[in-house]
This record gives sequence, C-alpha cells and structure tokens, in this order.
Amino acid sequence: MRKLRIGVIYGGRSSEHEVSLASAASVIANLDRQRYEPVPIRIDRDGRWAIPDRPPTVVVAADVIARARQEADRPGRPGRETYLVPHPGEEALVTVERAHGETPARENAYVAGLALDLIFPVLHGPYGEDGTVQGLLELSGLPYVGSGVLASAVAMDKAMMKVAFAGRGLPMVPHVVASAEEWAASPEAVAASVAARLSYPVFVKPANLGSSVGISKVKEPGGLAEALRVAFEFDRKVVVEEGVPAAREIECSVVGNHRPEASLPGEIVPSREFYDYEAKYVEESVAHVPAPLDEATTAEVRRLAVEAFLAVDAAGFARVDCLLSRETGRLYVNEINTIPGFTTISMFPRLWEATGLGYAALLDRLVDLAFERHAARQQLRTSHLQAQ
Ligand SMILES: Nc1ncnc2c1ncn2[C@@H]1O[C@H](COP(=O)(O)OP(=O)(O)O)[C@@H](O)[C@H]1O
Ligand SMILES: [Mg+2]
Repeated sequence: MRKLRIGVIYGGRSSEHEVSLASAASVIANLDRQRYEPVPIRIDRDGRWAIPDRPPTVVVAADVIARARQEADRPGRPGRETYLVPHPGEEALVTVERAHGETPARENAYVAGLALDLIFPVLHGPYGEDGTVQGLLELSGLPYVGSGVLASAVAMDKAMMKVAFAGRGLPMVPHVVASAEEWAASPEAVAASVAARLSYPVFVKPANLGSSVGISKVKEPGGLAEALRVAFEFDRKVVVEEGVPAAREIECSVVGNHRPEASLPGEIVPSREFYDYEAKYVEESVAHVPAPLDEATTAEVRRLAVEAFLAVDAAGFARVDCLLSRETGRLYVNEINTIPGFTTISMFPRLWEATGLGYAALLDRLVDLAFERHAARQQLRTSHLQAQ
C-alpha cells in the first residue's frame, strides 16, 4: 500500500514557536513509518514557509523551550521555499527549486508539487491555531487534522469562547470584556465595570494569546490599570475575570468529530502562584495523570470537556482546561485549546495514554478523523443550482 504523505506544519509566528517545534518533533518521530511518510514544513518567525533539510529534533522534559529555541535560532537553516497554493488540487503545496541553488533569480526557479495527502498543523497560538492557516488549508482543498476555521478562531479568542460556552450553559467565572478603545476613552469606566461585577483577585488576559503571555493576576483594584496596560500591548481586546479561589487546574483531552470522547482528567500543580509561562515551560510544574478526583467530579470534568468541544464546534482533537475551587468545590470551564501541546510528555497525549490510547495510535486516530471530516465536507452541495 502506498504510504500517506503527511505534511507536518510547525514553527509559526506566535510566541509559542518553540513549543510548536517540540510538539512537531514528537509527532514526526512517532508517525508510523509503515503507513506514513512525514514531510516537515517549517514556518519561520517571519512567516515564510520552507521544507527544512531535516526535521526538528526531539527535546526532553525540562529544557523543552531552551533547546527548541536553540534549534529555532540556529543561523542559516537552509530549506526549500514553500507555498501552499489556495486552490484545490493534488499539488496544493509547492516548493520553489532553484536551478543553481543560491541565486533567487525567478528565471532559475521552477515549481515542484509535493503531492501531500493530508496536513497536520502543529502550530500553537495566533497565525496557526486561530483559523488563519485552517482557512488556507480549506482553500487548498487538503484534508487536515483538527478544527476548522470557525472553531479555531472562536477558541483562540477568550471573549468569543466564553460566548460559545455560555450558549451551551457551561459553568464559567464572571468576566468583563474591554477594548483598547474603551480603555483609552475612559479607564475609569472600565475600572467601574470591573468593580461592579467582579471581586478580587482578578485575572487580566489578552483575548487572543496562549501560554499565559500577557496575563496578570491582580489582587486589589490598585493593580488593575497596570495589568490592563500590559494586556493591551498584546491585543486590542482584553478579558478580566474573577479568580477561582484556591484553584486546582484540571485538564481533559478530547478526540472525535461529531461524537467526541473525553480522556481521563489530569491535574497540573503549577510551580508558581499561577500557571504562567515560566511555570509552563521553564520550571517544572507537576502533573498528576490521572487527576486525584472523586468519581463524580471525574465524570463531570469529562462531560464538560465534551460539551466545551461541541460548544465551539471543534473537530479532531482539543484539550479542555477547567478550574476547580478547593474552597467551594465548584468546577468551571476555563478554556479549550484546539491544538494542544503534543510532545510525548504533554498532557494531551499523556491523558490518552492513561485512558488506553498510546501516542502512535492517537496519531492514527487523528489522521482517520481528518479524512472523515474532509469526506463529509466534500459531500456537501456548494450551490443550489445543480443537484449532486
Ligand atoms: N479565573 C481564574 N482563576 C484562577 N486562576 C486562573 C484564572 N484564569 C487563569 N488562571 C491561571 O492562569 C493560567 C493561564 O490562564 P489561561 O486562561 O489558561 O490562559 P492561556 O490560554 O494563556 O493558557 C491558568 O492556567 C491558571 O493558572
Ligand atoms: Mg491555559
């Protein structure tokens, strides 16, 4: 049987570039070579696409970021320039070959199609996990792993994500959304609306980022202005939400399309006051797999994870993060990540492993789900003029 050529896109323009390298290295290393031929596709920090001369190397636990950063910053990383062409066809991804190598003269270039069967975007954060790359993939007509444009965009925007979650009645902490324009026009009005609806501590978050970048925990009203100033450096929309008292961080992995299934939940014990960037990638936070929860709470987390997945109309896979108050025992849905961290030590695959689905089998499942979703979409009529 012919092997499936899977383009694994990684890197990207977001602050999670390094995390993506680490995730992609694990994915590429674990795709079953009997069935698949992985084709690494790197997006540089400046947004250029290339086929690298070799895939990113797998890095180990503690130094994921430091090692991946070295890898990303290594000078003169050659590669063939690559473009994803936005029209359907076998040759959707093409490379530009230079007849004489070094000179970028147009007349020496010829275009070679890569004949990919499927794309696996292993990109975290804006310009990758947010529907932008998914839009290009839709236009190119290639099947791809994970959520489509809408779910990716909704899940990346913490304000819209809450609208979708509310529509399905999911439990969330009270929150306020503020725009840069509102803040500029009247910082007092924004502070007043926070004071009227939330009690401290609050968390101030740029709407469209990940990995805790730009997020502050504010313990009293006096700290709000500075936290908003920082958050507005990252986005024109900011979410301020009430802190869950003595929060436990419970995560749950989901896989599927229209009938998604949830893994056993896990728990993160952050090494710092909250699970910020340092706690995520620099210091080692402790993970419990599965989470030490009673049966009823475990079942409720799994139910909420599936509901959250359906709420944003996700596809393929996602990780849903909940906060559980040690004080009140209440459970809240915090967020959904449509391209969760995918190194072999990341929560997403570890939770599936604990639930009985190993890393390589999980990849097989994601590939099957991608083809299933693509086939279903191909069946749809795009015009009312002609019956199929
Ligand atoms: N409402 C909250 N109550 C308590 N802790 C929170 C709250 N919101 C966020 N946090 C803490 O901040 C971390 C990052 O917030 P999160 O919304 O998950 O952003 P990101 O998308 O960057 O991961 C969480 O893992 C948690 O430690
Ligand atoms: Mg988070």
